[in-house]
Order: sequence, then C-alpha cells, then structure tokens
Amino acid sequence: MKKIVVAIDGPAGAGKSTIAKLVGEKLGYAYIDTGAMYRSVTWKFLGTGKDFNENVIGELAHKMLIEFKPEAKVNRVFVDGTEVTEAIRTPEVTANVSKVAAIGSVREAMVKQQRRMGEIGGIIMDGRDIGTVVFPDAELKVFLTASVEERAMRRYKENVAKGQTCDLAKLKEEIAARDKADSEREISPLKQAGDAILLDSSHMTIDEVVQAILNMVEERL
Ligand code: DC
Repeated sequence: MKKIVVAIDGPAGAGKSTIAKLVGEKLGYAYIDTGAMYRSVTWKFLGTGKDFNENVIGELAHKMLIEFKPEAKVNRVFVDGTEVTEAIRTPEVTANVSKVAAIGSVREAMVKQQRRMGEIGGIIMDGRDIGTVVFPDAELKVFLTASVEERAMRRYKENVAKGQTCDLAKLKEEIAARDKADSEREISPLKQAGDAILLDSSHMTIDEVVQAILNMVEERL
C-alpha cells in the first residue's frame, strides 16, 4: 500500500504528540516528535553549563545523534546513546527551548535529520514547521490547535496525575508566552501552511481527533 508523509503542526499543548503517536500506531507509520529534538539540543546545551551562545549551541546540534525508540506507552528518546525521555521534559528545558529553537544553525541541523527520517515515506511527524518547511510537499498537513484555556487545563491535569502541584494561571501564561515566541521568531515561525487542514480539538476527545486524521489519510490513499 502507498505510504504517505503526514505533517502535524500546531501550538504547544494542542495534543500533537499524543495524537500523532496513536495515528502512527494505527497506520504502522514511524512517529517523529520534532519538539523532542529541539528539547534534546536544549538539554545537551544546559548540561554544558556554558552561557547562551548561538555558535556553541549550533555546533552541538550538528554533532549530536538523536534517536527514537517507540514503546507502547512512551516514545523513548536517546541523545548520543543516553536516554533523555524524562530529562527533556523538565521545566528548565521547557523554559529554554524556544530560545534554542530560534537559532538558524540548530534548525538547519534538525531539519536535515528530519528530512532524512522521512525519505522513505510512511511517517507522521509533529512540530511547528513540518508542513511549511520540513515537508512542504507532504500529502497530508494538519494544523492541530485548541484554545489556550483548554491547553493549559490539559497540562494541569497531566501534572496533577503525575503528583506534581502546579498553578493553572501560571501554566496558561507559560503556554501563551511560548506560542508568542514560536509564532514571532524570524526563522520558520509557527504558522499554518496554506494547504493544511485546521483541526480545533478544544471540544474533541483524543479518539475523535485520531479518527478525524485517519479519515483524512484514507482520503489521500
Ligand atoms: O512540541 P514541544 O512543546 O515539545 O516543542 C518544544 C519547542 O520546540 C517549542 O517551544 C518550539 C520548538 N519546536 C520548533 O521550533 N519546531 C518544531 N518543529 C518543533 C518544536
């Protein structure tokens, strides 16, 4: 059967990774979480203890090997052989990742790896610039979004389920700030591709969103 490239873009907390992982499993497609790649670069840089420097970070990004090992519940992430699945989700990484993702040479290194991963088709990739920059010819592009309130509430519930205390208003502020940084940066900003289908998941269940995307894939096959 024909295998296509599915690009899922959208703002932070819209459920892209949960949805893309499930759609990937249903289709037997490899799922690539490109946000995890920018987080991995950020993690690696923070580990050096050095001051923020675009050249240093760009060089790191070009040298590091990022690998995904999908498992039933998690998509495990490795940097140069070290598992970073949890380490790339800390508040410190989250607070610094937009700045790192705005560096041109970092994006260049990541896009190169992402295109290589997608060469054979049969992949679902989520991020901010997949339909606009990484795979402008993807057969299916979805722009997945939800209201800031809804996205903050989902994060809040996730944190509470993990036993972490958090402040809903603060989460909302952080998400809005990251949206702004990601949408207003100069290189490859978060933007809906002209030929992407807008899917607002504010009032949809996970299963409904997965089914909607599977229907779109079906139409393209
Ligand atoms: O999806 P996420 O929250 O894990 O992404 C982390 C950050 O990485 C996000 O703030 C923006 C950036 N990012 C990007 O610039 N381009 C992508 N393709 C994916 C993520």
